[in-house]
Amino acid sequence: MYRLVFTQVLRRFDAEAVHHLTVSALALLARLPLVKRLLHRALAPHDPALRVTAFGVHFPGPLGLAAGFDKDAACAEGIAALGFGHVEVGTITAHAQPGNPRPRLFRLTAEHAVINRMGFNNAGAVAAARRLRRTRGVPVVVGVNIGKTKVVPESEAAADYVASAKELAPLADYLVVNVSSPNTPGLRNLQAVSLLRPLLTAVKEVADGTPRRTPLLVKIAPDLADEDVDAVADLALELGLDGIIATNTTIRHGGETGGLSGRPLKGRSLEVLRRLRARVGDRLTLVSAGGVEDEDDVWERLLAGATLVQGYTGWIYGGPLWASRIHRRLAKRVRRHGLKSIMEIVGRTA
Ligand SMILES: Cc1cc2nc3c(=O)[nH]c(=O)nc-3n(C[C@H](O)[C@H](O)[C@H](O)COP(=O)(O)O)c2cc1C
Repeated sequence: MYRLVFTQVLRRFDAEAVHHLTVSALALLARLPLVKRLLHRALAPHDPALRVTAFGVHFPGPLGLAAGFDKDAACAEGIAALGFGHVEVGTITAHAQPGNPRPRLFRLTAEHAVINRMGFNNAGAVAAARRLRRTRGVPVVVGVNIGKTKVVPESEAAADYVASAKELAPLADYLVVNVSSPNTPGLRNLQAVSLLRPLLTAVKEVADGTPRRTPLLVKIAPDLADEDVDAVADLALELGLDGIIATNTTIRHGGETGGLSGRPLKGRSLEVLRRLRARVGDRLTLVSAGGVEDEDDVWERLLAGATLVQGYTGWIYGGPLWASRIHRRLAKRVRRHGLKSIMEIVGRTA
């Protein structure tokens, strides 16, 4: 049904216009307590066998929505009501910024992929904090992903991230330092250990200082050389981070300028996950993103050592019930394998 709606209707509209419409619909849903609760009851993962605990936070299921959809923390409850186990909002920057000129979001329908060069369009950390403070009507695990404001020079990057962290860490179930988006000039240079160490150290101090100690993760690019993946993993261990999210979009493609996500990213994303697991074992929580399309992909990521899995492009092509469907099928598979908890398979093939 969704495939029909997608090919006959949605595809014909500008991708970003459809995106904004979806965010508005989900934000509206979040303001309708009864509908929100009914949907949440019907679609969210409730099976105890799907529960995942990572860095002290309880997730109702392993599959969450990756950063970039709910950039302004406008509709996390609506997203949770559709069946995602967590929502990573952002990327949020300390200062509001418009992002790159449009068009900046492109569908590659045949490849089940997307290219984007959004450039962290968002209303800034203070506005996001205001939204996050609003009471929640349904339970939702919210990760907050922060990035550098475009006009801030590299030499002041740490202070810029710290400003966002101060606003947002107290409101986040976990915090993510994003140094891997390709659409802010120079951002990915921050993945070099010499720049990343002071940056993560400064943000960690803020995250550690919140009343509940906010878990801190770093999100990396799939385009890092293998040795650099190892170097970031070693640094994360050294600094006592809680985890790594791998991966962001790739710039290795021949299309429009921007980051590629979806099916073509699957192989490299899995490769980076395997490398990280080999390096850190279970000392860090690994969150796998990139080309996840169905329950087989989620299962494979868990086996390879991810405790949590995220998707975004798969949802665009899979339709509104995508996450709910995957969680339902995962629950069946857990029982078929005679397991009590999906966490039992984490790292089994690593
Ligand atoms: C339109 C779009 C916008 C994105 N914006 C962000 C972002 O702001 N911050 C971020 O860390 N990742 C962002 N991402 C990357 C996703 O979070 C994810 O890491 C990547 O798309 C790979 O997952 P997927 O193949 O399931 O889409 C964005 C992805 C897309 C498609």
